[in-house]
Order: sequence, then structure tokens, then C-alpha cells
Amino acid sequence: MTLNLTHEEKEILKGREGKAKAKAMKILVTLGEIFGAQRLIPVSSVQISGVSYKTIGDAGIEFIKDLSEEAKVVVESFLNPIGMDEQRWQEMGFSPQFAEKQHLILKYYKRMGIKPTLTCTPYYIKPPKFGEHLAWGESSAVIYVNSVVGARTNREGGPSALASALIGKTPEYGFHLEKNRRPTFLVKVKIDQEEMGEDAPLFYPLLGKITGEKLKSEVPLFKGIVPDRDEMKSLGAAMAASGAVALYHIYDHTPEAIAHHYHEDEIPEKKRIEVSWEDIKIEVERYKKSLREMVRKKGKKPILIAVGCPHLSEKELKKAASLLSGLEKKKLEKHFRLWLFTSRYLKEKCRREVEIIEKSGAKVFADTCMVVSPIEEHYEFTVTNSGKALVYLPKMCKQRVSLNSLESVIGEVMK
Ligand code: F3S
Repeated sequence: MTLNLTHEEKEILKGREGKAKAKAMKILVTLGEIFGAQRLIPVSSVQISGVSYKTIGDAGIEFIKDLSEEAKVVVESFLNPIGMDEQRWQEMGFSPQFAEKQHLILKYYKRMGIKPTLTCTPYYIKPPKFGEHLAWGESSAVIYVNSVVGARTNREGGPSALASALIGKTPEYGFHLEKNRRPTFLVKVKIDQEEMGEDAPLFYPLLGKITGEKLKSEVPLFKGIVPDRDEMKSLGAAMAASGAVALYHIYDHTPEAIAHHYHEDEIPEKKRIEVSWEDIKIEVERYKKSLREMVRKKGKKPILIAVGCPHLSEKELKKAASLLSGLEKKKLEKHFRLWLFTSRYLKEKCRREVEIIEKSGAKVFADTCMVVSPIEEHYEFTVTNSGKALVYLPKMCKQRVSLNSLESVIGEVMK
């Protein structure tokens, strides 16, 4: 056994602080032993996924109910999106039975002291700091804070994140250790901005999708791109969904690449790939469908246009408001439902933008998203601008999908 526990940790394991904490400590100790950790380290926050009734079902409710009768979190803990907008679930068309179960889940998490942030972007609410240790669970949030912020977290499962929230610690292995954060693969991107034309907004979601598929769980160092924070969010979410990438660096751009001067020379020849616009274009042709063609094939159900995976940032909400301000409600609602997803925190902060967006006939929902809510009850065809949603919608929501930018969708609706 490599894991050294303090006296206090051993006592918790023996049950001195109750059964729930003993169970949580057992989870962390088992995980630490499997991955060869030498100690447990404190975390400054925890993010818990597996909150939607759609994904955890009745067995999940029972598990959380039992735990909530005794346990309280000891560190700031955030919750991932649930299966519906807490305030407007009727407008989403979901049943009272679903809402009732979902409210129960929320009640039990709140009883443990977990903040009902209900977003996959808690970093907009309370940004972590460079080098800080966390125990976060949602894959797009994990890759964002590791790569864009330089904080340190493994990709926690539901039980291990919850265990960290109750103990305030995590086993020190994986991405908590400096040696595992170095790049292991080079991705050279050769793109001329002009050749992308109107498909430029699809570049980062698709670069993420194809890189994740090829690299699985490597740590890529990208060269040849200079994305902004929203583009890095989109790139990372797609990579984490199509592969299992939890950390990436961008040459001279992301914080650790700058701090450690990561350079392509340290990566062996056999661990290098090049991506060109030709590679991305193949994917654009595969996934981008014209709305007119979709309307022809859609049958009776409207087409869902779903934007905000991961949840929209303030800047993205502002951009959506300016794009949608000229949209004609009647034209949109004839065949489509346009839903945008963000956190309740940002929805309240950006009230003016939300008003403009909703005047166009679109809806801004909070607390949930197109993947963890039961959209399959009402839709068969979903158009998204997200590389992550493109991967998950067919599997988790039985959707036929198309990848289109919001700009091109609006252009087509207005024709
Ligand atoms: Fe967030 Fe839902 Fe996408 S949780 S990352 S919006 S699948």
C-alpha cells in the first residue's frame, strides 16, 4: 500500500465521523491505491455531475437520498445541469412526473450543502486559480479548468466527486502531479483563415472532435492556433466527448504552455499529427445539413435548434442577442424551436440580452441542456453548433443531428 493516511483520515475511515464520511473516505482510499497515490490533498472546490433524473434514474435518487440523511459537504461544491429548467420546465414540454423526480434529486443535494449552480460552466461563477487543486466531474469543465485556467483536476466520476465534497480532499495522482501535465502529442494545425469562409465557426468544434477521436487520453500541444476563451471551451468540450482528453496546451497561448515554454522538440516524431482545412472540411460535409433539406424530411415534429453546449458565456449571450435581434418570430416558429442554454447566474446577469433573444421567438433556458433533458420525447432532429452535442445527441437523445453555426441557421431561417 503506497497511500499514507494521517491520523485524522484513519479515524474517519474507522467511522469516527459517521458512516457516510467513512464510506466517502473508503472511496478516496480505494481510488488512491488503484492509481498509486501517496497521500490525499485538499481541494478548493468540487463539481458534481450525474444530477439529471434522465441520467441517474430511481437508483440514483435512492443513493443520494440515503447519503443526504447524514452527510454534509465540507468544501465549496457545485452541481452540474439537471434535466429541466427549474422554473420553465412546462414550457420545455416535460411531464410533472419527471419534474417531481428531478426536484427530489435537487432537494437531496441541497440538503448536503451543495450549491444548486446547475451549470457545466461554474468557472464563470467562481473562477478557480492557476495551480489550485479541484475535484471536478463534468468533462467539459474539467478540460477547461485544466487547460485554460491551469488549475488541477482529474475527471472525477459521480461517487468520487461526492466523496471529495464530503472529505474536502482527493488522492494525489494523475493531473494533480506536475509530471503528468506535460504534453505527450503534437497537433500542428495548418489553416488559412480565408479558406474557411462561412464555416469558420465550425472549425473549433470539429478540430476538437477529430483530435479527441485520434488522441484518446493523450495531452495534446497545439501549434498554429490562437483561439479565444469561448473557442477554447468549444475545442476542449468536443475533445473530451469524442476522446477522453482532459488537458491540452496551446503553444505560447495557454497558461502552462507559457509558464513551462512547452516546445514541439520535446515530442517524438511518431506522436505528431497535422490537421488541415481539408480534414475539417470532410467533417463539415458529413455533419452540416441545410435546414431546407431537414424541413423536407422532418415529419410532424419541429426541428430543435440547440445552442449552448457547454453553457453560453456572457460574451456568447451578447453575440446571440445581436444575431437574433432581426429574426422574424413567425418564420422561426413555423418549423423550428430555437433553444439557448446558459447558467441561471448568467441568465440573470444578462437580462437585457435574454429579452432581445426571446423577442425573436427563441428561448433561453437555464439549469439544463439539450443532452441531459429528455428532448427525445418531442424531437427527432436537432441542429447544434457544438462538437460535444454532436457526439452525445445521437447516443443519449436518439437524435438525428446536424452541425450548423448560429449565423448560418439564422441566415437560412430568414430566407
Ligand atoms: Fe454542458 Fe450539457 Fe454540454 S452539461 S457540456 S451543455 S452536454
